[in-house]
Amino acid sequence: MGSVTAANHRFAAPTVAPVHAAPRLQVDKVSLRYQKPDGGIFTALEKVSFDVPDQQFAVLVGPSGCGKSSLLYLTAGLAEPTEGEIYVGGQHVEGPGADRGMVFQSYTLFPWLTVRQNVEFGLKRRGMPAAQRKEIVDYYVNEVGLTGFADNYAKQLSGGMMQRVAIARALANDPQILLMDEPFGALDSQTRLQMQQLLLRVWGNSKKTVLFVTHDIDEAILLGDRVYVMGARPGRIKQILDVPIERPRTLDMVMERSFIEMKREIFGLLHDELEEAH
Ligand SMILES: Nc1ncnc2c1ncn2[C@@H]1O[C@H](COP(=O)(O)OP(=O)(O)OP(=O)(O)O)[C@@H](O)[C@H]1O
Ligand SMILES: [Mg+2]
Repeated sequence: MGSVTAANHRFAAPTVAPVHAAPRLQVDKVSLRYQKPDGGIFTALEKVSFDVPDQQFAVLVGPSGCGKSSLLYLTAGLAEPTEGEIYVGGQHVEGPGADRGMVFQSYTLFPWLTVRQNVEFGLKRRGMPAAQRKEIVDYYVNEVGLTGFADNYAKQLSGGMMQRVAIARALANDPQILLMDEPFGALDSQTRLQMQQLLLRVWGNSKKTVLFVTHDIDEAILLGDRVYVMGARPGRIKQILDVPIERPRTLDMVMERSFIEMKREIFGLLHDELEEAH
């Protein structure tokens, strides 16, 4: 297990963030309603408000249907809230943009493009010169451990490798925030652990602000700085918990007492939610 030094402790003073920096993500009284087939109204999200500070790894957990994916879609600008606003870097979200990188559970690569072509897709669209593109793509392909596979077609990759490419592609665009919706949900448990380790390392290097959705409480605590526990019917933020575990994180920390205590607390909150549903 890594030792804790002033340099790697998660409470070490940030070197770049200004003292009064606005949060990287602000969700302000966001409600989302759908028209039901019978003409009634279904409230998916009810006045959801929360902030994610710059460089924070924020995790959303909550029962199925509580609106986690909806929140990510709204932040991505793929849908509009019925009420309320979302700001990324102080800018009102009004549609999709390259400042928000997305990694979703179902593979979203272009299967007919190579790893390199997938990762450089956004950069090419922005008209970045080839030499600069190559430098960025090489860096991120290496970051996710796919250097030997840069010229393989995406369709020739395993599920875990595809998600590595998706992470590299999202980061290559240098987004303000990375939105990840159960990115490891479709992977076997071994690959999932590998991917968690990989993400911890890559995030440690990039220090991007992340909003990450998972059903897996261990994953939430292992990766997150803060866990936002949601409730359903209507979807809302129930509690926000700081993860009291230092960085760098390692997989064996799941056995630490503070980890298990936090797991019990989150489990209790989610359990109450399930009880209320019956
Ligand atoms: N286009 C739509 N029309 C009507 N209802 C919708 C639509 N999209 C989502 N919903 C409803 O909104 C609620 C929130 O859905 P969402 O997919 O955000 O939940 P989730 O928390 O991501 O669930 P899961 O954990 O199962 O992925 C659900 O009850 C869902 O049925
Ligand atoms: Mg979902």
